[in-house]
Amino acid sequence: MEVLTAVDIGTSKVACVIAELDAGGELEVVSHGVSPCLGLRKGALVDPEETVRSIEEAVGDAEKQAGYPVGPVYLSLSSEYLRSLPAQGVWAISSSEGEVTGSDVRRVIDAARMVGIPSDREILHIVPRGFTVDGQSGIRNPVGLSGIRLEVNTHVVAAASAFLQNMRKCVQKAGLEVENDGMVASSIASALAVMTEEERKLGTAMIDIGAGTVDLAVYCDGEIGHSGVLPVAGDFLTHDLARFFRIPPAEAERLKLERGVASPDYHEGDDEMLEALSLAGDQKVPVSRIQLAEVLEARLLDVFDWVGKQIQLAERMGLVVTNLVVTGGTAQLPGIAHLAHRELSLPARIATPCYPPGLMDSLASPIYSSAVGLILHAAVRRAVRNVDSLEDEGGPSKVKVMLTRVGRWLSEVF
Ligand SMILES: Nc1ncnc2c1ncn2[C@@H]1O[C@H](COP(=O)(O)OP(=O)(O)OP(=O)(O)O)[C@@H](O)[C@H]1O
Ligand SMILES: [Mg+2]
Repeated sequence: MEVLTAVDIGTSKVACVIAELDAGGELEVVSHGVSPCLGLRKGALVDPEETVRSIEEAVGDAEKQAGYPVGPVYLSLSSEYLRSLPAQGVWAISSSEGEVTGSDVRRVIDAARMVGIPSDREILHIVPRGFTVDGQSGIRNPVGLSGIRLEVNTHVVAAASAFLQNMRKCVQKAGLEVENDGMVASSIASALAVMTEEERKLGTAMIDIGAGTVDLAVYCDGEIGHSGVLPVAGDFLTHDLARFFRIPPAEAERLKLERGVASPDYHEGDDEMLEALSLAGDQKVPVSRIQLAEVLEARLLDVFDWVGKQIQLAERMGLVVTNLVVTGGTAQLPGIAHLAHRELSLPARIATPCYPPGLMDSLASPIYSSAVGLILHAAVRRAVRNVDSLEDEGGPSKVKVMLTRVGRWLSEVF
């Protein structure tokens, strides 16, 4: 049995999820912990000590419930310091028979890695989207095909090295280590937890609207083809309300959570007057519920404008987008799917984590999509690692057995 630990460092909270992966490939989430965190703003680290404290608290709670201390952790990151780009690689097929081998595949992906990433950035993900052998494109797995020239199209996510180093330091100061290859873009993590296989194949944009950032991932033909981060989300909605009505941010947050809707379209009946404390705390300020919805809608229109532009970018790269999946804490604002549909002319659904099967109810909230998806990502990485070592010791039959076992839920996720 292997223990997997996911730590999602969000702008409003740190969430930790602990899961166990058994030798048969069964994955079970055993505990989780969450701690409010004010150490990030718009996805940037502004208070390392506060972040360390939240990591300690969230991981400590999860460890207590699980009944054991955890080892190295996987970390999900959502920040404007992350950038995505398409990258191509080319490789001359090396074997004397001219047949593509696993080593050629690794080499052509390494060639794609050489794309112009500035020296102050590191590659977090390089996802092959399709191979071409001697001009024949659209190949999923080229191993065994004959040819001379092997090409690959990939989706690359890179992050500023200084940002990664600072996040790693926070984890270390909390007494933990980050797994090798344990840094994961939140967009990729969330998408794993909430999208169905059909959505991934058909072409879908997933957005995780949190407190400080919107993470976007576009999947098409089963694989990610575009991703991005916008440093504007739920915190902005709250601050807009605070400024507009001249009320304290805590009151604005309360009104948003208790009475907010994504658009006045969604408000039924006559206007309603709500009350909030004034900035000085000594008076009541009247707040029109329709005006509240108008302020929220204005900011959300900016968000969907950005999403629309990202979808256009993805379409220019040849991806197809037929619908939208919305998750993250702000997805809980009533009427947000309706507004997304109106603005983007795409059907939209609100999603909570749906994998692995049997996930506990307390994690079935859009705020946990990243943390749960990170566990799935970790399980896949472990499974691939195990398959690689099986390949070394036992040959293809053992590999097949392992993949079939893991595949029961993995095939739903991929
Ligand atoms: N019912 C609700 N209606 C509107 N907004 C909500 C609701 N519930 C939570 N939120 C908002 O969701 C945000 C928190 O979401 P989430 O936990 O996904 O963010 P995060 O992961 O901490 O941040 P990020 O991913 O942006 O770094 C807060 O801005 C909060 O106000
Ligand atoms: Mg988040």
